[in-house]
Amino acid sequence: MTLVNDLLTMLQLRTRTLEIEKMEFDVYELLETAVAAAAPLAEKKGIELCLRAGPLPSGLGDRARVGQLVDNLISNAVKYTLTGGRVEVGAESDGESVRIAVCDTGLGMSENDLERLFEPFFRGTSAVRAEVPGVGLGLAISQSIAHAHGSSIEVESVEGVGTTFAFRLPAGD
Ligand SMILES: Nc1ncnc2c1ncn2[C@@H]1O[C@H](COP(=O)(O)OP(=O)(O)OP(=O)(O)O)[C@@H](O)[C@H]1O
Ligand SMILES: [Mg+2]
Repeated sequence: MTLVNDLLTMLQLRTRTLEIEKMEFDVYELLETAVAAAAPLAEKKGIELCLRAGPLPSGLGDRARVGQLVDNLISNAVKYTLTGGRVEVGAESDGESVRIAVCDTGLGMSENDLERLFEPFFRGTSAVRAEVPGVGLGLAISQSIAHAHGSSIEVESVEGVGTTFAFRLPAGD
C-alpha cells in the first residue's frame, strides 16, 4: 500500500497534479498520531520513541501531506536505528512557524550519501549494507511536500552516530 501510494504521489508531483490544501490543523495531534503509528515497530525493534513538544500554534497547510512527510521521517528514523537506540520527535515554535524535527541515534550517513539523499530511488550505502528494505522514494516525496509548503527539509548526520531531519511549517492564527 505504501509503495503504491508513494508512486502515485511521485507521479502527481511530476505532473503537477498534486493538490495542496491550505487549512489550519493541530500540529501536536498530528505528531501524536504519527508517533503512535510508529510505536509498535519501534517497540518490536527495542527502540525508544518519544515526542517532546511545548505549546504549539496550529499549522497551516495540507494535514494529510504533512502527515505523510512526518510518517516518512519517523519510519526512516526507526528503520535506520539499531536495537537500543532512540528516536525523538520534537516541535517548537517562534510564533510564525513550527519547526518539526526527527532525531535518531542510528546508522547516520556519509557525506556522499547526504548529497544524493533527496533523489528519487536513491538508497544510502549503510542502508544497502545493512539490508534494510526500501525503494528510495520516501525522502524525494517528503522534500516535494515541504517545498509545496514553502519549506525545505534540512539534515544533519554523522555516520555511526545519528541523524536529525527538520523542516518548518507555517503557523496559523
Ligand atoms: N534517519 C536516517 N538515518 C540514516 N540513513 C537514512 C535516514 N533516513 C534516510 N536515510 C538514507 O537515505 C536513503 C533514502 O531515504 P528514503 O526514505 O528516500 O528511502 P528508503 O527509506 O530507502 O525507502 P522508502 O522509499 O521505503 O522510504 C535511505 O536509503 C537511507 O540510506
Ligand atoms: Mg524511507
